[in-house]
Amino acid sequence: MHRLEKAHIKPISAMLARTFKDDQAEIFPDPQERRVKAPYVHELFLCYSFPHIEGYITSPRLEGVAVWRRSNINIGVSWQRIIKSGTSHLALKIGLRALKKIMFFDQYMDLKRKELASDKHWYLNMLAVDPRYQGKGYASKLLNAMLLKIDKENLPCYLETSGEKNVSIYMHFGFQLISEYTIPGVKDRFIAMQREPKRR
Ligand SMILES: CC(C)(COP(=O)(O)OP(=O)(O)OC[C@H]1O[C@@H](n2cnc3c(N)ncnc32)[C@H](O)[C@@H]1OP(=O)(O)O)[C@@H](O)C(=O)NCCC(=O)NCCS
Repeated sequence: MHRLEKAHIKPISAMLARTFKDDQAEIFPDPQERRVKAPYVHELFLCYSFPHIEGYITSPRLEGVAVWRRSNINIGVSWQRIIKSGTSHLALKIGLRALKKIMFFDQYMDLKRKELASDKHWYLNMLAVDPRYQGKGYASKLLNAMLLKIDKENLPCYLETSGEKNVSIYMHFGFQLISEYTIPGVKDRFIAMQREPKRR
């Protein structure tokens, strides 16, 4: 495992757009617009949250990425943060209408996290393996190393996901389903999961 560095952000954003290619349908209903703009959404998120996250990649070939942050760090998307972090150029590329939706979804999930997760926790903000490399153990590599560290801190971790397969994979790592919810305007159901620390 290697730490995610600033130089990785652009190629990782392209990989994330390939991996989550249907996930931004509510933000960009037009598939052509989605294809062009989805990488900017990932790039904006990674650039402005970079100082506050703990990001890992599998190797410089960028097969997969995991992004974590501590629960006490609030990095909700806001105009102020976009301007301060120098990501306004990406915000302009994404467009005002889409950004407003992103901010709404982000705030909604943040409120749910505050309601559902233990007070102090690690939040798995993102886990993705490039479709070309899935099923080869890269997610295990990313998760196991960080879970070991989190267990040593004796802290729970929290995530949101969707789809039966993801739930089953996360259960394999000791996460339990704690709630399901929908976000107004979003088709998919979100599944909130938490993993209690293991004694090692
Ligand atoms: C979910 C995702 C990250 C998994 O990555 P991956 O590299 O293909 O996963 P791995 O090959 O490392 O498998 C992870 C572990 O889950 C296990 N596993 C795989 N499929 C499983 C299933 N259906 N049920 C239970 N466990 C499963 C594997 O055996 C492996 O465990 P092991 O190392 O102890 O044998 C990847 O498929 C992905 O990026 N999907 C699209 C984006 C996404 O949905 N991200 C997560 C949503 S938040």
